Amino acid sequence: MQKITLQTLQAKKSKEKIVAITAYDALMAGIFDEFAEIILVGDSLNMSFNAKNDTLGLNVEQMIYHTHAVCAGVKRAFVLADMPFGSYQNTKSALKNALKFYAQTPCDALKLEVNEDKIPLIESLCKEGFAIMAHIGLQPQFMRGEGGYKVKGKEEGEKARLLQLAKDLESAGAFGLLLEGVKSDLGAQITQSVKIPTIGIGAGAQCDGQILVWSDAFGFFDAFKPKFVRTYANGKAFLQEAMKRYAQDIKNGTFPSEKESY
Ligand code: KIV
Repeated sequence: MQKITLQTLQAKKSKEKIVAITAYDALMAGIFDEFAEIILVGDSLNMSFNAKNDTLGLNVEQMIYHTHAVCAGVKRAFVLADMPFGSYQNTKSALKNALKFYAQTPCDALKLEVNEDKIPLIESLCKEGFAIMAHIGLQPQFMRGEGGYKVKGKEEGEKARLLQLAKDLESAGAFGLLLEGVKSDLGAQITQSVKIPTIGIGAGAQCDGQILVWSDAFGFFDAFKPKFVRTYANGKAFLQEAMKRYAQDIKNGTFPSEKESY
């Protein structure tokens, strides 16, 4: 089993679609490892794992804890870790916190939600040897400041801005782009305009790869369902049914049986 590297991902551009998914622990990461080229330890864990209303409120230590767990379950996939809100406000704090991820976990790369003001910061991180994926378009870490989750690239001016931003981030050294919540034509235009791979979530079919949050994809998170989510299993109902039978067996005294006892 060959480990997926940054070069593997870059070589897939325009040739083979990249499969990406989130995971927050070794158990799920181990299941997804065979099928996904990228496993993202996303700060979405604050919503789907911690039942919070947004991705804010996680700290570096919490993300490192989950990144550790995911890396422990993975043999093949490229592990990407989200730097949490507030951990890269300036170049100094970004370098300090990126170093914590690299020193304390074997993750392969880091993801940051960035705009024009952070291009020099991305350049500094890349020059220091960090592999960086830049997350642009709809940026959940900005949702309180923007008053909600807003699809980007609806107006020509914003389209042009995001296209230029994508090119500038490539020049700054980002190895890939995560495009979230952008109109499909913009997703396609960015993908065609840069040499680095683009991974989309709600960014149309032309991106070099696609990512979903695992609990959305497999039917465990039903608080709300964004338009871009395709649900591949009814995980919640499946587990509820199994849990019900387990509880019934305990209540009626049929678990444990003779065979399950010492
Ligand atoms: O935190 C996350 O899970 C993300 C998604 C866009 C996949 O960043």
